[in-house]
Amino acid sequence: MAGPVSVGAVRGMGRALLAPSLLSADLMNVKGSVEALGGAWDWLHVDVMDGHFVPNITFGPGFVRSLRRGFPDAFLDVHLMADAPEDFVEDFASAGADLMCVHVEASRHLHRLLSSIREAGVMVGLAVNPATPVEWTFPVLHMVDLVLVMSVNPGFGGQKFIPETMNKTLELFRRREAEKLEFLIEMDGGIGEDNCRELVRNGCDVLVAGSAVLGAKDPGEAASRIMSMLGR
Ligand code: DX5
Ligand code: ZN
Repeated sequence: MAGPVSVGAVRGMGRALLAPSLLSADLMNVKGSVEALGGAWDWLHVDVMDGHFVPNITFGPGFVRSLRRGFPDAFLDVHLMADAPEDFVEDFASAGADLMCVHVEASRHLHRLLSSIREAGVMVGLAVNPATPVEWTFPVLHMVDLVLVMSVNPGFGGQKFIPETMNKTLELFRRREAEKLEFLIEMDGGIGEDNCRELVRNGCDVLVAGSAVLGAKDPGEAASRIMSMLGR
């Protein structure tokens, strides 16, 4: 909890990691928001938005650098919702990201982009929007550590889960088995106590939750309830 985790400890085991999204943190007191979780978290999910790929603007490398200073042992899961992601790899890597997740829709040269993330010494993630066929990830699955299935259209917290996206995690799960690969399956958007168990049954290894955790009345209680539902 709240530190480097053995990702193999959850993969395909019917358990999952919880990655609270800092989009729902108190931006005047991010450290306090994380501390209010009382250690009931695994990764910190950082939503980077550029105002082009998505209609919102959030955090840059400076924020990740500060997080790294404030939480030296935390696993920083950086979700890059930006056009031209290749321009940001170096900056987020040197800021202290542990995993950088780029969108399949944002790059014309995926092999080059994913290789550059690997070369920067950061774990490699690939995200797919709800309306993007999951098959778009198939040619490069051997190059990634994680596939992020978006269950809302990215841009904002607090949106409703899109149920059609659930098939994608099962498809990825089966493909991973068939090809003997090891990537993790992460889901992001509209996730909370009402659906987290079902998502784990559908193959998810990492669940991102923003409003259901950091937006809750008692974030510590909400996080530990979800953690226990994730078999943690
Ligand atoms: C959406 C972001 C999510 C968001 C999730 O663009 O990628 O990480 O913070 O927020 P909730 O859990 O409130 O849907
Ligand atoms: Zn996200």
